[in-house]
Amino acid sequence: KKLARVGPSILNSDLSNLAGECERIMNSGADYLHLDVMDGHFVPNLTFGHPIIKCLRHKVKEAFFDMHMMVANPEAWVEPVADAGGDQYIFHLEATSDPKTLCRKIREAGMKAGIGIKPKTPIEAVVPHVPHADVILIMTVEPGFGGQKFMADMMPKVEFLRKTFPELDIEVDGGVGLDSVQTCAQAGANMIVSGTAVTGSSEPQVVIAELRRTAQE
Ligand code: DX5
Ligand code: ZN
Repeated sequence: KKLARVGPSILNSDLSNLAGECERIMNSGADYLHLDVMDGHFVPNLTFGHPIIKCLRHKVKEAFFDMHMMVANPEAWVEPVADAGGDQYIFHLEATSDPKTLCRKIREAGMKAGIGIKPKTPIEAVVPHVPHADVILIMTVEPGFGGQKFMADMMPKVEFLRKTFPELDIEVDGGVGLDSVQTCAQAGANMIVSGTAVTGSSEPQVVIAELRRTAQE
């Protein structure tokens, strides 16, 4: 069974102190950081882009930056995000007509390539492209905002991927917390994104440890 890793999302943290929040989360035992880039076109919200990541990279040196690109033109940001220090670049299948080429471009830029699908996108749509990617992200909320309710009906997508691709990294993202992480892990997810459940807690280190313990059992 693939080792479970916990990658908190800092979307709902104090963005006025992003570097400090990232340090706090990493010092709380996170395995990686999930950074939500939103452009106000692919999703109805706007966050931050590569200029912020570039500065963050200098402050949070060792952390693995899992870049969740909720953007309309993911091809445009590959080079800037790679130069800024992104480690993994997850674009949305719904935002490109050529996922295979985009995955190659991401890898050529030195990052791991990931493909994400929204709740309404069937798992069949992404299966042909899995061989070109390092990770598949299954959204368990409609992308755009933190703090939404976990969608358990997304689990068959995770189960299908785990059964079909035993070695694949499968990431779940959206509404994941202590009451839903076991469902995700049992379905086969091994990369656990959790935002509000971690950054909204007064003891993030306890939540992160519990998420990992539950996901590993
Ligand atoms: C939503 C983002 C998620 C979100 C997770 O569009 O992609 O990463 O921030 O936060 P929670 O766990 O609060 O749903
Ligand atoms: Zn995300």
